[in-house]
Amino acid sequence: MQPNVKTFFDKETFTATHVVWDSESKHAAIIDSVKDYDPKSGRTSTASADEVIDFVRSEGLAVEWILETHVHADHLTAAPYLKEKLGGKTAIGDHVNVVQGVFKKVFNVEDEFAVDGRQFDHLFKDGEIFHIGGLEAKVIHTPGHTPACITYVVGSSAFVGDTLFMPDFGTARCDFPGGDARQLYKSIQKILSLPPETKLYMCHDYGPNGRDYSWVTTVADERAENIHVHEGVSEDDFTKMRSDRDAQLDMPVLILPSVQVNMRAGELPPPENNGGRYLKIPLDAL
Ligand SMILES: [Fe+2]
Repeated sequence: MQPNVKTFFDKETFTATHVVWDSESKHAAIIDSVKDYDPKSGRTSTASADEVIDFVRSEGLAVEWILETHVHADHLTAAPYLKEKLGGKTAIGDHVNVVQGVFKKVFNVEDEFAVDGRQFDHLFKDGEIFHIGGLEAKVIHTPGHTPACITYVVGSSAFVGDTLFMPDFGTARCDFPGGDARQLYKSIQKILSLPPETKLYMCHDYGPNGRDYSWVTTVADERAENIHVHEGVSEDDFTKMRSDRDAQLDMPVLILPSVQVNMRAGELPPPENNGGRYLKIPLDAL
């Protein structure tokens, strides 16, 4: 069964937000939303999320789930805002506690910040089955880019987060704290062992070589053409390629703002004694 999918692409952060729904019940999930953030001024905005909200309302959808594939390092999630406007439960993979543990130290956040994922309404275990109306969905733990990455398989489509990119762009970096190229290779094999016709929806696309942005491919196409992990690439070869490449990458522009907000399920840090909220820049930490 193929779910209905409408994708919103944010050209500022190259992020694809997917609205997934069951046409019969009109129940929906929103995967990997974006809250706009201008690093020059420190201003946030909900323009991107409002487009999603307008669509959900115009289609008469009932949002059951507001899902994250992982704690993103390149954009802020709009999950709390979407929940306030549309309802639904926020969720992420249950290994988010590992990510929270690492970054609680990096950002030296308040002692009260719990590192057990309680900021989310639900934590998914590997293999867990859930429903979006009449659609059955299954969670696969796909660590490597981060320890908590998960893939959502909904009917015959899979939302792979940052495990795979489009075939001509390859795979995601593994050099953030807790990342592991060998683990990513193993996770990708789990995705590539899904039926070949399975549609794969990306979390990002960068339009390499001037092509138009796109965010959906198939297992068969990734196996045949992915420039990093097509059929025949060994775990050792992949791991070396990935590690060499990661050593040359700059940190994403929004990694510091993104992680300290996204590890709180998208809530901003608590107000200080003047009522203002602040993000931290840890010096020489990353
Ligand atoms: Fe990511």
